[in-house]
Amino acid sequence: MSLATLKELEAEHAVPTYVRNPVEFVRGQGCRLWDADGHEYLDFLAGISVLNVGHCHPRIVETVREQVGRLTHVTNLYYTEPALRLSARLAESSLGGKVFLCNAGAEANEAAIKLARRARSQGKVVVLQGAFHGRTYGALSATPQESKQAPFAPLVPGFEVVAKDPGALDGAVDENTAAVLLEPIQGETGIHPLSEELLQAAREACDRTGAALIFDEIQTGMGRTGTLWAYEQTGVVPDAMTSAKALGGGLPIGALITGPRLGDVLGPGDHGSTFAGGPLVASAALAALEICSDPELLRRVRVAGERLAGGLGGLPYVSEVRGRGLMLAIDVAGGIDAAELARRALLEQRLVLNATGPVTIRLEPPLVVSDEEVDEAVARLGALAP
Ligand SMILES: Cc1ncc(COP(=O)(O)O)c(C=O)c1O
Repeated sequence: MSLATLKELEAEHAVPTYVRNPVEFVRGQGCRLWDADGHEYLDFLAGISVLNVGHCHPRIVETVREQVGRLTHVTNLYYTEPALRLSARLAESSLGGKVFLCNAGAEANEAAIKLARRARSQGKVVVLQGAFHGRTYGALSATPQESKQAPFAPLVPGFEVVAKDPGALDGAVDENTAAVLLEPIQGETGIHPLSEELLQAAREACDRTGAALIFDEIQTGMGRTGTLWAYEQTGVVPDAMTSAKALGGGLPIGALITGPRLGDVLGPGDHGSTFAGGPLVASAALAALEICSDPELLRRVRVAGERLAGGLGGLPYVSEVRGRGLMLAIDVAGGIDAAELARRALLEQRLVLNATGPVTIRLEPPLVVSDEEVDEAVARLGALAP
């Protein structure tokens, strides 16, 4: 089917919520993608930090092939091994409490918000300016962006937005606060790491009032920043956290992970989902979690991240490089339009990345990226210099 035919189908039959680039991808391997004409691309977006293990990782392919022919779904009315093994592995790898599995990031945050309100009835949820937590109503209500929220008012009540300032955060959290929900590095709004002081203030405010500190590690998790979870590089341990994106190795899954204190807050009938933790996605996630927990892979993320940040910083039109590990963004100077630069990178240099704002480009390659691929990406971006 030609791209023109796909565009016709889209125009006639797809709800037009996405602005797609004019490329049809048909195959992926590692850090490479191929379009329908056989052209090869270097993927420095990884499906927005989903393919951390790389496209078609042999272990994921083998696991899914084996499981899809055996059992794909029975619901949570019955026991299945992959979901419970995954829950155990997730808890052991992080906060040591209990796990609620679901199907995506927004859903994981919905579960986290419900958990917090169940723990402190009627409590408000404090979120930060610049946050992105998803598109469903609860997650959207936690996402203080006018363009995303305004058309869908009224939103869920009980969310309070505060500036990314330790004093402001401390002032907003009181005995009526159910939770402080934050991303340790704000991803969708341009890769902005939160300061250690802000994270400490959030921890102290929650300790003082009994509110739950919840980290959204949907984009930062699964090795993206050079440790399995980003919170490990801070001095702060949250009471609960959410994961999704890379957790499924390319398949859709999400998870709420609690620490010991919040493990039994939600009880029978409080929450659920038909597909949650099905054997197919859970077995893929178990394999992805194993791959992303490998200390050697995590060391490589830190090394490759430094190499990429260094290379990007040397580009003539880059004014700032931000981020941690392989979760990076550049700000471009000199009146360059970031969206246009990303479009040219795709169409002229066959380099996949995306613009998160007028001057910001996000780079999140698969964690298996080689030094040569890092250098190649930098060279391709360099070729776009005005
Ligand atoms: C930090 C964060 N939270 C939540 C979400 C929502 O995840 P999903 O699109 O899987 O619902 C995203 C997606 O970009 C995200 O980056």
